[in-house]
Amino acid sequence: MAVGLNKSELAEAARPALVRELHLSPPLPTSEAKVVLSYPGKLPKVDVLKPVSTTYKKMYGASISDAENIGANGFIWADNWFGLHSLIEAKTKAQLVYLDPPYATGYDFQSRDLEHAYNDSLGDAAYIEFMRRRLILLRELLDETGSIYVHIGHQMVSELKMVMDEIFGQRNFRNLISRKKCSSKNFTKNQYSNMNDYVLFYTKSANYIWNQPSQKPDPAWIAKEYTKVDEKGQYKLVPVHAPGVRRGETGQAWRGMMPPPGKHWQYQPSKLDEFDAKGEIHWSKTGNPRRKVYLTEDKSIGLSDYWDQYRDAYHQSILITGYPTEKNFDMLKMIVGASSNPGDLVIDPFCGSGSTLHAADELGRKWLGIDQSYLAAKTVTERLLRGRKPMGDYIKRESPLDLFSQEEAVVQHEKTEADFSVYVDDEIASAHPTELSELSALLR
Ligand SMILES: C[S@@+](CC[C@H](N)C(=O)[O-])C[C@H]1O[C@@H](n2cnc3c(N)ncnc32)[C@H](O)[C@@H]1O
Repeated sequence: MAVGLNKSELAEAARPALVRELHLSPPLPTSEAKVVLSYPGKLPKVDVLKPVSTTYKKMYGASISDAENIGANGFIWADNWFGLHSLIEAKTKAQLVYLDPPYATGYDFQSRDLEHAYNDSLGDAAYIEFMRRRLILLRELLDETGSIYVHIGHQMVSELKMVMDEIFGQRNFRNLISRKKCSSKNFTKNQYSNMNDYVLFYTKSANYIWNQPSQKPDPAWIAKEYTKVDEKGQYKLVPVHAPGVRRGETGQAWRGMMPPPGKHWQYQPSKLDEFDAKGEIHWSKTGNPRRKVYLTEDKSIGLSDYWDQYRDAYHQSILITGYPTEKNFDMLKMIVGASSNPGDLVIDPFCGSGSTLHAADELGRKWLGIDQSYLAAKTVTERLLRGRKPMGDYIKRESPLDLFSQEEAVVQHEKTEADFSVYVDDEIASAHPTELSELSALLR
């Protein structure tokens, strides 16, 4: 894209280098023509949004009662189709939604203690429609200034991008983020190793909550970028001109020198004089001015759409729950911090081990999580009440430490004492009385 060009310069730049406008055949669709994702069983949006009522049991500490409503902070043990409908019925509005659904891998997932967690076997149209229906409901739940992050693998990222464009509008697409999920793969046959998954970031409107996340630059980047030193410190040299012709002062001569052809001075001449007086202009041997930009102690750089600092657990002291596909906790804290403010509501409809809920709780946000897996229900409860354990505990022992046992684990646990309720879909509650009483025991 041309930067800093005025209208006539833009018109000039837009002219094709090589003109071959005649005899283009066959004709392309018009620029206004829309792409539509089509497959059998695509439910009209109005039907997706038709109310579906469900009743719940509410578990808080030792008590179990019929729930009158679902309030934050809460974990809902249910299929999210029902859970999300109930939240819409209750007129819930969230500022942030993060979801990390099954990726259509075709696998069955177990915990580190080999307990069944969930199955990921939907394929193609069934998977796309399963996701589309839930994404339509999630859009309803988002506040006008809200954001949604869809974490997904390579299997379905292109399909979900199209689904998201259909539901949220291309104009509300913000980023397709690549996240480095692991450091190396030993066995990759006849293709490149797969080290990333993806996050689709959309907002409900152009006016959305955004707290710029940034990080301290690493020393190697600093050494490459700030290559010079003088008595004031480490610095880099940057041009004092920018693309585009200007008629005002910045397009005139400074110190008898015109800006290079097609460019203008980036600052008013008086400002350039100021820099020079402070010794912040470097003059080359040929008389070319450049500005010295010094490295400051609080130097930080905004995050890009490549996240290589949020790998999932990879060494033994990292705290985890043992739930499969548990996501990096620091990544969730960064997302919650960037796209919500304290007191806002954060929803994770495929919450698994509760990484998002934990991050939201720690950062003073309200939260609601949904998962249909019993192991997820137990893991979220245990995590939010008693914390996670170092990954080494699952690896070093001959018989792995039971995540839900109270002995010894207490010593290693981080301290979490979240105050929350568990809501259980009444049909699940009556079909799984043993699991319900186990869960109730954990909550006491
Ligand atoms: C990839 S895992 C999420 C992991 C989570 N982000 C974490 O950090 O632990 C996907 C989760 O979606 C849940 N799930 C799948 N289908 C669901 C449905 N229809 N309703 C609710 N949860 C569902 C699975 O049980 C599983 O826990």
